[in-house]
Amino acid sequence: MDVLEIDPKKIRNLRRNLLRWYKAHARELPWRAGPRGDKKPNPYHVMVSEAMLQQTQVATVIDYFNRFVAVFPTVASLAAADEQSVLNMWQGLGYYRRARHLHAAAKMVVDEFEGEVPREADELLKLPGVGPYSAGAIASIAYDQRAAIVDGNVIRILSRIFKITKPADETETKKRLWSIAEALVPAKDAGNYNQAMMELGAMICSPRGAGCLLCPVRNQCESLADDQMDVHDLPVMLPKKKPRAVTHQLIAVQRRDGKYLFVKRPAKGLWSNMFGLLSLEHDVKLSSEPDFNAIKKHLKTSVNLTAGETDHVKTFKHQTTHLTIHFELHVAQDGKGRAVCDGEIAWRRLDELDDLPLAKPQQKAVSLLRKFEAQLAV
Ligand code: ADE
Repeated sequence: MDVLEIDPKKIRNLRRNLLRWYKAHARELPWRAGPRGDKKPNPYHVMVSEAMLQQTQVATVIDYFNRFVAVFPTVASLAAADEQSVLNMWQGLGYYRRARHLHAAAKMVVDEFEGEVPREADELLKLPGVGPYSAGAIASIAYDQRAAIVDGNVIRILSRIFKITKPADETETKKRLWSIAEALVPAKDAGNYNQAMMELGAMICSPRGAGCLLCPVRNQCESLADDQMDVHDLPVMLPKKKPRAVTHQLIAVQRRDGKYLFVKRPAKGLWSNMFGLLSLEHDVKLSSEPDFNAIKKHLKTSVNLTAGETDHVKTFKHQTTHLTIHFELHVAQDGKGRAVCDGEIAWRRLDELDDLPLAKPQQKAVSLLRKFEAQLAV
């Protein structure tokens, strides 16, 4: 099927049914203007929410969003903030690059767009971290511009409605999905239409189960109409690469006053510019018992400390998109010496960490250290 062959009546029905359903069923979300036109969208809120929602579910984002806009209520306040406080507000949401990009985007809005989030998708595309999906989402939701979006939800819905059986992550199929999305988005109410697609993907046409009986566009759905086909078989995706297994040895160096050493991670790579315990990272999964000599050597070469007694506390696993990371947590008593390293360091007690941005596995390590300390105290 060529895009130009979409029946105009089908397009009209899809738009009408989706918009009617959305206006009746849309969830109230803090960044969302009333779907019934009762509130005007705040473009800055839309920009923040789209950054948070890129890899994260709505239910998780709500609290983060509310806290974030309470601390940074305007694009100017975000632009003026220091990076550490921005990362701190993002702590636990993951994919911290989004936070750095959002911060840089706010600066660009202030410096180059007179403090107004741009209206046009091609201007939005100039902002750091804003790709075709986010540009379309912001232009349509904040300004009701006719701009299409294609994200995971839209891929799933359009693959099912138009019975697309080629892998959706192939370039040709992606192009086709974009053309279909562009043909479908209406000139009027584009923001509500795009949010209706997201809402349908979250509430009805979900990855796990399709609630076809309740679906407002079931009569337009070609895969549902096909007796030989199960809608859940779509979209077809290319096989994913298996995540690589690696080991990170975390070394919690403790001083005599009870404080632990935290170091700022490098500006590039995983969890860049966030803080954490000293980490010795291996590109493979270690299968043998922890090598305390290697740990002590790392302590000496990385921060010039001599470790005293060293204990293995616990091992835990953390999953990222591309890596399965086996964390080994060790406590090393600081024998003697003063920590010296290229980056920033901080000596902190475990109850003094509120202003240090820590990624999820580092927070987990801290909570294990607290338990370890409590055990030692009894
Ligand atoms: N996912 C991405 N953007 C969204 C939005 N604005 N509302 C709900 N879910 C979304």
